[in-house]
Amino acid sequence: MAYKIAVLVGSLRRESHNRKLAHALTRLAPDSLDFTFVEIGDLPFYNEDLDTDTPPESWTRFRTEMKTVDGVLFVTPEYNRSVPATIKNALDVGSRPYGDSVWGGKPAAVVTGSPGGVGGFGANHHLRQSLVFLDMPPMQQPEAYIGGIYEMFDAEGEVKNADTRKFLGTVMAAFADWVGKHA
Ligand code: FNR
Repeated sequence: MAYKIAVLVGSLRRESHNRKLAHALTRLAPDSLDFTFVEIGDLPFYNEDLDTDTPPESWTRFRTEMKTVDGVLFVTPEYNRSVPATIKNALDVGSRPYGDSVWGGKPAAVVTGSPGGVGGFGANHHLRQSLVFLDMPPMQQPEAYIGGIYEMFDAEGEVKNADTRKFLGTVMAAFADWVGKHA
């Protein structure tokens, strides 16, 4: 039986390179992982006043969906050396109500993509800080800071460079092992 993995993409824009990267990663992954892209762009900013018996419908949809998965793959750009607010908000929404977090114990992988050479290192490690607190084992190796994403894909969204494809496949093989150990 395959492990169910939620893919959370930090960019909301239609032509997002990180979304292309996320799709490429899922194609290059072992069959033991079964991916679902979970929407985070419709989640209102977390506000404790709204977290009543009838929270926003999208929060409930997100929390319910996330409770069914065995692990999480984060694929995100870096915004101002940190994660976009979309990702942080999703973490916050999923972490509440207190004592009913959707995250605890779920293995995670963090892949950051950037047009620059640093590959979103700052975002990658800011996100890891939250994952530690949320008790999600974040895969350590291989690290995945993907630079040059504007040149990475062909018109069909395939990764052009064979070495890059190989590396992304290595990342996903390691994640499959990681999920097998921790899920
Ligand atoms: C960026 N970008 C960016 N890139 C980076 O490598 N480090 C950074 O700190 C930032 N900061 C930043 C802030 C904001 C508000 C925006 C909109 C953009 C550039 C970013 O990497 C670029 O727009 C990517 O194309 C975003 O990824 P998607 O949308 O193509 O997936």
